Amino acid sequence: MSYLETTKDVYKEAALTPDVGLCCTTNPIWELPGLKIPRIMQEMNYGCGSTVHARDLTNNPKTLYVGVGGGMELLQFAYFSRQKGGVIGVDVVDEMLEASRKNFKIAEEQNDWFKSEFVDLKKGDAMNLPVEDNSIDVAAQNCLFNIFKADDLKKAIAEMYRVLKPHGRLVMSDPTCEQPMNDDLRNDERLRALCLSGSLPIADYVKALTDAGFGTIEIRARKPYRILDPKHYPTDELIYIESIEVAAIKDPMPADGPCIFTGKAAIYYGEDDYFDDNAGHVLLKNQPLAVCDKTAGAFAALERDDIFISESTFHYDGGGCC
Ligand SMILES: C[S@@+](CC[C@H](N)C(=O)[O-])C[C@H]1O[C@@H](n2cnc3c(N)ncnc32)[C@H](O)[C@@H]1O
Repeated sequence: MSYLETTKDVYKEAALTPDVGLCCTTNPIWELPGLKIPRIMQEMNYGCGSTVHARDLTNNPKTLYVGVGGGMELLQFAYFSRQKGGVIGVDVVDEMLEASRKNFKIAEEQNDWFKSEFVDLKKGDAMNLPVEDNSIDVAAQNCLFNIFKADDLKKAIAEMYRVLKPHGRLVMSDPTCEQPMNDDLRNDERLRALCLSGSLPIADYVKALTDAGFGTIEIRARKPYRILDPKHYPTDELIYIESIEVAAIKDPMPADGPCIFTGKAAIYYGEDDYFDDNAGHVLLKNQPLAVCDKTAGAFAALERDDIFISESTFHYDGGGCC
């Protein structure tokens, strides 16, 4: 059996018997005025962060969510769109589609504003999405792509790129790991399916996105996720896994390479009111400007003693240089 089949089996089980401990979500359940998340959706929260950000959801975006789980994030997206078919949900596991369908019925009972028809559930594979080219404004996946091996990850990202409109955004949450993992861990299909042994270092994860053509990347959050310890897992050393929240925007690729925001900021503290690098960046005195890694590098290369550049905070919430 391939690891993809094992993955389907794991999530068939998780659909039939909700498993609260399956993924260690690092986000508190996201509450909004008038939004009630049914308990069963909370128990079936198999994600590792949030992909629902209000600032992505202006101008009535057409939204796609791949790997539906218990439907919690689809309900959160529907909270913003509130229209028939406003959110498309795709999953390859019939039992998971059925479980989320049931959960939406419960959500209808607990939320006056919600109707199940707001979510259009479709059977389909992340590597072959049943969605038209250039038709989606916001695509999301939470804790699915980390399971995929390199070639499959490439296909899944290419599919998201294909269905997004120009300037559309792919919003994701996935575990990442900066330490090497041995082959026993990497090849353990169940651990991979459980989002424990497929994770990549952040730089590799970002490269997979920029290789697919996404011109802008935002790392919005980076948080502790799990420990793999030698007593419980086939590893000699303790392995620390984090989770990140990332948006990849289908902007054209700049000639000098992608804009990758990792939470750096530049602050000008010189004698003038502002500093203009004549390359499109103006730093107002003593006001931090969020800069992508490329712009941070360009400022650093000036070797000025009146511009400070912060380390990456891995928390980017907009308003950047490009
Ligand atoms: C780790 S769970 C995450 C569920 C949900 N995103 C959440 O945050 O709770 C992975 C989800 O992806 C689905 N899935 C697994 N393999 C898939 C594939 N190849 N294509 C689409 N969905 C898949 C599973 O059925 C499950 O719903």
